[in-house]
Amino acid sequence: MNYKFDFKGKSVLITGAASGIGLETAKAFLENGADVYMTDYNGEAVAEKAKELFMEYPDSVVVAIKADNTKQEDIDGIVEAVKANTGRVDILVNNAGMAHSAYSVNESREDWGKVIDLNLTSQFFIAQKIATEFMIPQKSGRIVNTCSLGGILGIPSAAAYSASKGGVMQITKSLSCEWARFGITVNAVCPGFVETPLIKDEMANEKWMAYMNMRTPMRRLAKPEDISGAILFFSSDMASYITGSSLVIDGGFSAGS
Ligand SMILES: NC(=O)c1ccc[n+]([C@@H]2O[C@H](COP(=O)([O-])OP(=O)(O)OC[C@H]3O[C@@H](n4cnc5c(N)ncnc54)[C@H](O)[C@@H]3O)[C@@H](O)[C@H]2O)c1
Repeated sequence: MNYKFDFKGKSVLITGAASGIGLETAKAFLENGADVYMTDYNGEAVAEKAKELFMEYPDSVVVAIKADNTKQEDIDGIVEAVKANTGRVDILVNNAGMAHSAYSVNESREDWGKVIDLNLTSQFFIAQKIATEFMIPQKSGRIVNTCSLGGILGIPSAAAYSASKGGVMQITKSLSCEWARFGITVNAVCPGFVETPLIKDEMANEKWMAYMNMRTPMRRLAKPEDISGAILFFSSDMASYITGSSLVIDGGFSAGS
């Protein structure tokens, strides 16, 4: 058993890596010796961040891939880019997602569809592709899905988001059952509120921030590094008997007040 995080020789694919939790997770894996594929639909931003990280970690492979997770041809393109570089994916961090707020009486079919497509359907089809192309033939792999506290608690004006993240918890369980025999573990992290551009409007609202700080036992929102540590743990040797789990990381928000 290796009690230190050591990802040397491991190839990690992180979606939504141009910002927030995905970007911090890329950095955390590089700090621990991994090679990292950073994908995002914002091609310019992800290329810039990958360049900065490569300057910091020149001994690792750092590849930026422009890919919209809702387009199957872009998912196929991710596989091609991996084959042209390290040729393997040991760890998939299925992270890209969007927020969406609408009271249920006003929700449109179009917006509902967009949220489910990116947050849930894309996570499933990326996992399917990466498992089929790399992890099942390798007979090993780690998949960490980014879920949310919204997948566990009901949140007013977020039915679509909550449904998408609740779905992520369920595919995490189904895939963990199906793929355990291939040496693949599938787990999820469920962050509470994290200081990233995803919730910039809420963070700009002083009343909301004061309420959140008061309501959260730890009296602060999460930072991206509060989440990436758990992603590294699920991806490590130390978590080799953990699969199908969803870990809440919310400073105690859901434990009470
Ligand atoms: N920030 C929070 O409070 C919070 C809480 C719980 C869960 N999450 C989840 O964490 C994950 C990461 O969010 P974040 O807070 O780091 O947000 P973020 O906005 O900082 O990062 C999300 C990234 O995903 C990319 N992206 C968006 N749509 C995409 C698409 N179609 N294809 C590819 N990339 C796309 C964006 O360009 C961005 O770089 C999301 O799944 C989100 O739902 C966030």
